[in-house]
Amino acid sequence: MFSERVKNIELSGIRKIFDLAQGEVINLGLGEPDFHPPEVVKRAIYEAVEKGYNKYGPSKGFPELRSLIAEKYSNYGDFTADNVLVTVGATEGFMATMLSVVGPGDEVLYPDPGFVLYKPHIRIAEGKPVAYPVYQENDFMPTQEDLESRITSRTKAIIVNSPGNPTGGVFDDATIRMIVDLAEDYNLVLISDEVYFNLVYDSEPKTFLGKYDKLIFINSFSKEFAMTGWRLGYIITSKEMVEQIGKMHYYTVACPQSPMEYAAIVALKEAGDYVYEMREHFRKRRDLMYSLLKDIPGVEPNLPRGAFYMFPRVDVDNVVDVVKETVKRGVLCTPGEAFGENAKSHIRFSYAASEEHIRRGMEVFREVVEEFLN
Ligand SMILES: Cc1ncc(COP(=O)(O)O)c(C=O)c1O
Repeated sequence: MFSERVKNIELSGIRKIFDLAQGEVINLGLGEPDFHPPEVVKRAIYEAVEKGYNKYGPSKGFPELRSLIAEKYSNYGDFTADNVLVTVGATEGFMATMLSVVGPGDEVLYPDPGFVLYKPHIRIAEGKPVAYPVYQENDFMPTQEDLESRITSRTKAIIVNSPGNPTGGVFDDATIRMIVDLAEDYNLVLISDEVYFNLVYDSEPKTFLGKYDKLIFINSFSKEFAMTGWRLGYIITSKEMVEQIGKMHYYTVACPQSPMEYAAIVALKEAGDYVYEMREHFRKRRDLMYSLLKDIPGVEPNLPRGAFYMFPRVDVDNVVDVVKETVKRGVLCTPGEAFGENAKSHIRFSYAASEEHIRRGMEVFREVVEEFLN
């Protein structure tokens, strides 16, 4: 009854682990800000509905929104509305991209550990997922050798994600240059997932945008404006690519959600600094969680330079058992193996949580690790 396509993909097992938690939980397992959207943006939704933005809109997004997105990135290139496609979250942007770029047998390189969408999306497009490793020793940036040794005559595209989920790694300028050069040399499409674009702590955003002509830059309103549930994202790429990806997008969702687009216009015009306020909170929480993790025997954290995840290596035999026990005691976190084969000795903690929860969560985690080490 079911297609091979759907039979070939699985839902992640994280939920099952989260179900072990009883009663009140401290949630360090979340992939989203613990804030809500800015007040003006929340109000804009009501206004949009009252004003009649309840109908289908243009498939590629409202022209005003597309222009504002192009303008927002004007430091990185000469973009216009024609370079922008408004999508239903980065997730739909990603799927439409995969279906437009990848065909049967095409190989696509993706990071391991990496975000959970990449491998299934490549598979759904009937491509062949080829994992490349990123290691804590190299601040979770890929090396040229690890990438180049995986490129074959069938390689079509490379997926990159900086700042990274689950690692918090941010690529430096040399790594970005190296990857762009490789893509150029082998004539590959570069798909850059930059949904944490503005959540970098020690520098200006480091981006692939404007550095390569076959680049598909994917971003979202989800993290930047704390509106994950509103499902609004966008792609910036060549006009030709927008036309092609726009077809897949049209036949999947028809158009983005009109009231959300209205609110996104308000967000860009009136709440552009919101992300920097959140970032200051995240920075403090990052420093707190890092200092607490560093003191736990057998736990090696890396100071993340972006996003809101800590991805320490934990020196015990079975990390999943540590996670299960931590979750049973009410602290949600995610085993590294949920993000790939290469991350089995890691655990992901989100620090998009209150300082009190971070302190209590780390106390519980310390107790569990100490028990496992003894
Ligand atoms: C790296 C990465 N890419 C994409 C997404 C999906 O974003 P959106 O909510 O815009 O679909 C997430 C969400 O957690 C993410 O962490």
